[in-house]
Formats: sequence, structure tokens, C-alpha cells
Amino acid sequence: MPSTPSPDDSNTGAADHDRDRDSALDAYLATAVQAAREAAAIQLAERGSDLQVSTKSSAVDLVTRVDKLCEERIRHVILARHPGHAILGEEQGDGGGPSQPDATPTHSSAGRRHRWIVDPLDGTVNYAHGFPFYCVSIALEIDGTVEVGVVYDGERDELFSAVRGRGATLNGDPIGVSTTTAPRSALLATGFAYVEDKIALNVPVFARVLPQVQSIRRPGAAALDICYVACGRLDGFWELALNSWDVAAGVLIVREAGGTVTGAGSAPYRLDDPVLVASNGHLHATLLDLLRLDQLRA
Ligand code: IPD
Ligand code: CA
Ligand code: CA
Repeated sequence: MPSTPSPDDSNTGAADHDRDRDSALDAYLATAVQAAREAAAIQLAERGSDLQVSTKSSAVDLVTRVDKLCEERIRHVILARHPGHAILGEEQGDGGGPSQPDATPTHSSAGRRHRWIVDPLDGTVNYAHGFPFYCVSIALEIDGTVEVGVVYDGERDELFSAVRGRGATLNGDPIGVSTTTAPRSALLATGFAYVEDKIALNVPVFARVLPQVQSIRRPGAAALDICYVACGRLDGFWELALNSWDVAAGVLIVREAGGTVTGAGSAPYRLDDPVLVASNGHLHATLLDLLRLDQLRA
């Protein structure tokens, strides 16, 4: 006859489960770091080479030989360690066809518990011009929740990472958002998507908010911009038409660093929400009021 578990048995079971989960997450983080470092090494080595630049959704939406090489390498690293996992990458989609802006899983990733969300080179326009602000972004979603995020800037050897519930780090040291509360002391950033009507919508927002804050930057790599909020270099960031691969890792990192991420309104940001507002939290309500993104026509 099976023995009835005692309360001590169930505590031991829960502890074992937590330990297993922790060691699995450690392994996934190590995979993400390794893949990001290998992709960044390609980016650094290929600077100034023939990039074979072509366009995607619009004349300003670029893809280079290096974006594709990096995604190949990242997929190779992930699948060598975790062969059953699904991958959504900007350049190859999820294996069921080219990536879609709404990142809807196709048959090939549907039903799998683990899905990696990869931007092999965030900041391609910068990279193609030799402007040294770009990165690799890799996140792992388990059962629909992002659990691990890594954003690596090879130019500066800066590795931002987070595991859900464990805080965020930069090169292994804990990071936190800024304490700025006054808009006039705030340094913000934004991005202008490749979609023309969204650029047109964001220009008046930029012009209206600029005189209300200390200044606004437009660095050009959303994943890194968000990590700059996480480590307090920026107080806030917004953009109107991002994809899940741009932000999946950064959103976890800034939240784990104590920041707040919403869509156009005050509801927490979800990966299928194109509008993203990230801040140190203290400024968030003020920032949403200044931006008024929920009043924009679609
Ligand atoms: C772009 C960058 C840019 C942002 C665009 C993104 P890509 O990603 O993050 O800063 O403004 O919306 O698409 O194409 O360089 O990977
Ligand atoms: Ca991107
Ligand atoms: Ca990209």
C-alpha cells in the first residue's frame, strides 16, 4: 500500500521542485549568454565588411548578411543544448515561415512549452552605418511567461540579464532604475519604427514632450534603450510599433530592475502590444500623461 506523504515529504518535494527549476533556469541563462556572445563576436568581426544590405518591410527597414549569420549562430547554440525548444527569430520566424509583426506562433512552435524570442541584431540601421549602438537580444518564454532575458552590447562588452524573480544585472552586478521623479530632470528616449504612419504619429508626441523634460534621445536599438532604463542611464522610453523580439528580454530586465512597463495606458505591457512605455516607475503616471499615446489615432 502506498504510504501517505507527510507534511515534511511535501516540503521536501516543493524544495526539490524549486531546486530543479532554479538549475534549469541557470542552464537557460547560460545558453542565452553563450548565444549572445557568439552573435556579438560575429557582429564585431564583420564591422566594415560587405554587409549585403537589403530592405524588408520598407525602404528604411534593413537586413544585412550579419543579421542572418547571427540568427543562424544563435539557433545553433540553442538547439544544440535544447533540441525540443521552439525559436521565434526576427529573420527566420518560428520555422513555419517568415516572422510576422504580431509574432503569432505557427504550427511549428504552437504546443511547445519553451519558446526563445530572438533579435539577432537590434539596431541594424546603426550597424550598417558603423554607428556603434546595437546589440543582441534573447529571451526565453516558458508556458507563455518570459523567464530569462539577455541583451548584449558587444561594442561595450555590456551584458544585461535577468531571470524572473531574481533581479537584473549588468556584467553580473545588480542594477536598478533611477530615482528621478521630476519630468524636467528626466532623460528619456524613443524610437521611430520603420512603419511610416507610426513615424508620423510619434513626431508630434516627441515635439510636445521635449520641452517638458530634460531631453530626449533617439539611440536606435530598442532592446538596449530599455536596458538603459533598467540601469538608470535613462529615466524612461517609449515607442509605437515594436515587435516581440525587440523587447521580450528588455521588458523582463527593466521590470526585474524595479521599473514599470505598460502599453499606451496604465495596464502592464504584453508582448503583443505594439506601444511600449518603460520607466523608472516613479515617473510612469506623469510620463503617460505627457505622452497621451492612448489618444493617438491607430
Ligand atoms: C529596430 C530598432 C529601432 C526601433 C525599431 C526596431 P532592428 O530593430 O530597435 O531602435 O526604432 O522599431 O525595429 O530592425 O534594428 O532589429
Ligand atoms: Ca529589433
Ligand atoms: Ca533585428
